[in-house]
Amino acid sequence: MLSNISVISGKSSEELARKLSKKIKANLVKSSIRVFPDGESKITLSGKISKKKSIVVQSIYPPVDTNLLQALSLISKARETSSQVVAVIPYLGYARQDREFLPGEIVTMKVLGKLFKGAGASKIIVVDIHSLIGFKHFSIKTKNVTAIPELVKYFKKLSLKNPLVISPDQGGKERAKEFAKEFNSNYIALDKKRDKKTGKVEIKTKSIDEVKNRDLILVDDMISTGGSIIKAAQFLKKQKCKRIYVACTHALLMNDAEKKIKKAGVTSIISTNTIPGKTSKVDISKTIAKAIM
Ligand code: R5P
Repeated sequence: MLSNISVISGKSSEELARKLSKKIKANLVKSSIRVFPDGESKITLSGKISKKKSIVVQSIYPPVDTNLLQALSLISKARETSSQVVAVIPYLGYARQDREFLPGEIVTMKVLGKLFKGAGASKIIVVDIHSLIGFKHFSIKTKNVTAIPELVKYFKKLSLKNPLVISPDQGGKERAKEFAKEFNSNYIALDKKRDKKTGKVEIKTKSIDEVKNRDLILVDDMISTGGSIIKAAQFLKKQKCKRIYVACTHALLMNDAEKKIKKAGVTSIISTNTIPGKTSKVDISKTIAKAIM
């Protein structure tokens, strides 16, 4: 056992932290939360924190600000004892706010960069960050690991008919390419347009013959409202494809998104346990463990 390392489990990533601590043979420190009537939460840790190194595991999915504050609090507490604190934030909420898209917008990733450093983290590890531009705002060490090989392993077990990998937008082209390479297939990236003010999504691609009669895997880093996947699925169904599967790292699935995505013709959504839920069938603890060791 690497008992000179503690894995501190945040409430949003309990199962992942447990799996990770087993994989790296570290001591698991659990946290319990008491929420006061005014909404404040008080965290209590149980277990001994290593003097050498702590790994705080806490994803920042909704309630985003609560989970963010809890991550920072755990880091700060760990730093009182450990000389080195690594923040493992499997899903890093706010990662999409990495630049000023419209004048006057606050680049929240800049704020996060300061907060993680200020709390005492010396390194941050995340899974499939929306864009590496986000890390430009961090002065601590950063590492982005990819869930694609683990997602591909899952899809290799399915019997798909002449499968083709699709990215719903040009921004995800490299991701689709990487997935297709591991999966040993081809890929296509659609043209998507999102209105920066309303968030409304449109598929601009006219028509594609290659998808006809084929099973498709729509690959994305995350699903929030499902808008991107729904528009892409509706378009692909019109092109007479066969089944559509969705592979994504982070499934937030806000506002009944899963139901809406299925209604748009998607057979199944497969995501990782960076966000625990019904679709999180792919375990990412081994990938994170490799990044730590
Ligand atoms: C966009 O560039 C991202 O890669 C995702 O496609 C997007 O953030 C998903 O959000 P939603 O599910 O709300 O369309």
